[in-house]
Amino acid sequence: MNSLISHGQSPNKGFVQTPATHSLRAELQEFELGRFLIEHQGLNGYWTNYVLLYPQTGKLKGLSSDGKPLTGLERWLLEKCPIFLATQERFVVFKKLTQQHLQSGMSLVSVPCGLMQDLLGLDYSVVQDISLIGIDLDPESLQLAADFGQSLANIRIGFEQRDAWELGVNQQWDFITSNGLNIYVEEAQTCIDLYRGFARALKRGGYLPISFITPPEEWIPVDRQDLQQQRFLFTDVLGVKWQHYRAEVAVRQHLEAAGFDVLEIVYDSQRMFPAVLAQKSRAADHG
Ligand SMILES: C[S@@+](CC[C@H](N)C(=O)[O-])C[C@H]1O[C@@H](n2cnc3c(N)ncnc32)[C@H](O)[C@@H]1O
Repeated sequence: MNSLISHGQSPNKGFVQTPATHSLRAELQEFELGRFLIEHQGLNGYWTNYVLLYPQTGKLKGLSSDGKPLTGLERWLLEKCPIFLATQERFVVFKKLTQQHLQSGMSLVSVPCGLMQDLLGLDYSVVQDISLIGIDLDPESLQLAADFGQSLANIRIGFEQRDAWELGVNQQWDFITSNGLNIYVEEAQTCIDLYRGFARALKRGGYLPISFITPPEEWIPVDRQDLQQQRFLFTDVLGVKWQHYRAEVAVRQHLEAAGFDVLEIVYDSQRMFPAVLAQKSRAADHG
């Protein structure tokens, strides 16, 4: 499986250009996040992290990634766009789910790790003998995550540039956190294959915090107009690739088929981007 984020393809071939799409593309060109979205129709580790940490960083300063004042469109994306708000909320829930099961001696792995804030941002002050591994295809994300990791004392941290579908690990890890892959995957079987690899790599009883995006008919946006703007921007203007939605019942089936029990599903307030806590089934052992 290649990286699910495109690298420099010419976007939106075959899309109908209208004055409205043209004007929004021009607005996107005014800031770095917008230019990345135009070029890649998805977010890499760096830009996902930028969106996730915005409430604690850029929002306080009102500044964009290049230090200039936020444009109206970038501020809308980071403060109003329903799916970005949902992912910011999901990120907080994800960390809580992991933190509450954290114990001394555990090995925790983030796949795809991006900048790995899901693990690097946890509180390890009351546990000992923890090891963390970040796995991603993107060397730049791995390097940035390694830079962040240097501030964590007494934690062993390793990184591997590897395909999430080819972990090749048996019953070694206590936790795998996974956000941001299945939303780029259309085929159910490809998701199940990914989860099977996770189940194989986990020890019996190991945990998998994972996320998914629900179908649009289930969404309860704070503001319907923002949802319309989101649809126009991501579907008509950009044609983003993270739009593979799944109902909870399907995600449960995929995880169970791969050898997991679903312990908990925590929805964000708009019911868009839930976090799931699954556990490798004690009956199933793929090792
Ligand atoms: C949307 S980001 C999510 C990163 C991180 N989990 C987070 O929530 O901040 C998606 C990541 O998936 C990585 N990626 C894409 N395809 C991959 C694959 N086949 N195997 C491993 N990583 C992959 C990208 O390099 C990128 O860092």
